[in-house]
Amino acid sequence: MRSNLNISIFGLGYVGLPLAIKLSNYFNVIGFDKNKQRIKELKNFLDKNNEISSEQLKKSKLKYSSNIKDLKNSNIFIVTVPTPVTKSNQPDLKSLLLVCKEIGKIISKGSTVVFESTVYPGVTEEICGPQIKKYSNLIPGKDFNLGYSPERMNPGDKAHSVDKITKVVSGDCNKTKLILKKIYGKVNSDRIFVAKNIKTAEAAKVIENTQRDINVAFINEITKLFKKIDINVFDVLKTAGTKWNFLNFQPGFVGGHCIGVDPYYLAYLAKKKKTESNLILSGRKVNNDFPIFLAQYINNCISKKNKILVLGLTFKENVTDLRNTKIIDLIRSLKKKGHKVCVNDPYAYQKEVKKMNLKLTMLSKKEKYDTIILAVAHDNYKKLNYSFFNKKLNKNGKIFDLKAIWKNKKLPKKIEYIIL
Ligand SMILES: NC(=O)c1ccc[n+]([C@@H]2O[C@H](COP(=O)([O-])OP(=O)(O)OC[C@H]3O[C@@H](n4cnc5c(N)ncnc54)[C@H](O)[C@@H]3O)[C@@H](O)[C@H]2O)c1
Repeated sequence: MRSNLNISIFGLGYVGLPLAIKLSNYFNVIGFDKNKQRIKELKNFLDKNNEISSEQLKKSKLKYSSNIKDLKNSNIFIVTVPTPVTKSNQPDLKSLLLVCKEIGKIISKGSTVVFESTVYPGVTEEICGPQIKKYSNLIPGKDFNLGYSPERMNPGDKAHSVDKITKVVSGDCNKTKLILKKIYGKVNSDRIFVAKNIKTAEAAKVIENTQRDINVAFINEITKLFKKIDINVFDVLKTAGTKWNFLNFQPGFVGGHCIGVDPYYLAYLAKKKKTESNLILSGRKVNNDFPIFLAQYINNCISKKNKILVLGLTFKENVTDLRNTKIIDLIRSLKKKGHKVCVNDPYAYQKEVKKMNLKLTMLSKKEKYDTIILAVAHDNYKKLNYSFFNKKLNKNGKIFDLKAIWKNKKLPKKIEYIIL
């Protein structure tokens, strides 16, 4: 039996689409996206983000629209639009404000607006609520309600999809909390944690990602130190990992639009509230500088004007997402040092790569390189074998395995294998 709740979801990206598909199994759901091309593709059963298969799209009861008028019968609005940072790393709430304006024009009394986009504590009630009020003349907490339910999805990670993990919900009153508990509980077998209030839920989300950023920064920092004293960081981590409370983090690039962005939201709030964010911002600096350190390190190990093949360009393994990828910083830095750099990525879309002034190289191409850098641990690369390296690398070639994925692989003797 389908309920009388009419749900609309604003923003059908990595977060919005999987959620909309799941919710549409139980409720009437319209997925809204301002990107008409995205709507057209979804109607043709194509999710370019590779999160939802065409079979799932075909089976789904989800309706799509890019016309706001189609949402006027909605009584639950869920917002999953991007919350990036500006060039100067300040929160960019443009999309959020625009959506609130649109909702304000169509919302009716008794509705609930739930935000899933990552923000700093206070945004839902102090910025979004008043913006909806401005365009609707309805009062938040009286004429309509506000909720916040942070998203924890991890692109490319099928083990932690929205139906398998605990979902935090919060609202401006007990009734809102109960409605959200009921809605989200349907899709994840009632694994719901009700946060004390909206600000607490907003804060919890932003610190989850900031904590990860800081932990990776620590490992990146010690990686630089251990290189100087010639010990291998992965060996050190394996050794330290035998202690019961040592946390498992690995060196690497922190890109994407979450871990590398959300700490700036927290730092912005700290500045606004006149408190410190030294640790948060130094974590950001260490992680932003890491590709430059790697380029310098690789440059010191190879001869001048090398022909280099970089494997992987997306911001993490097994995803198509190129947003804020740090591999681009590595490539630019190596190019500046005079090397010829080619890049391969089986997941990235050529059209998106073009916007970065790059062109993807096919591995099938008969071309040899002086150096191969494994930058992203895509599953395809884990399978590469002896004959691939033999074919692709020149005599006395070097492999830099930044993710240590080939550590136990038999490699041609004439090739030097370097891990962090
Ligand atoms: N992707 C993740 O892993 C992840 C995880 C947790 C939280 N989040 C947060 O969730 C939010 C969404 O992230 P995402 O990765 O899904 O973004 P995304 O870019 O993949 O998708 C956002 C979608 O919103 C649409 N959109 C933008 N402005 C709009 C508007 N005014 N009206 C309607 N549609 C609009 C875009 O066209 C796009 O399709 C962000 O706040 C992000 O920080 C993302």
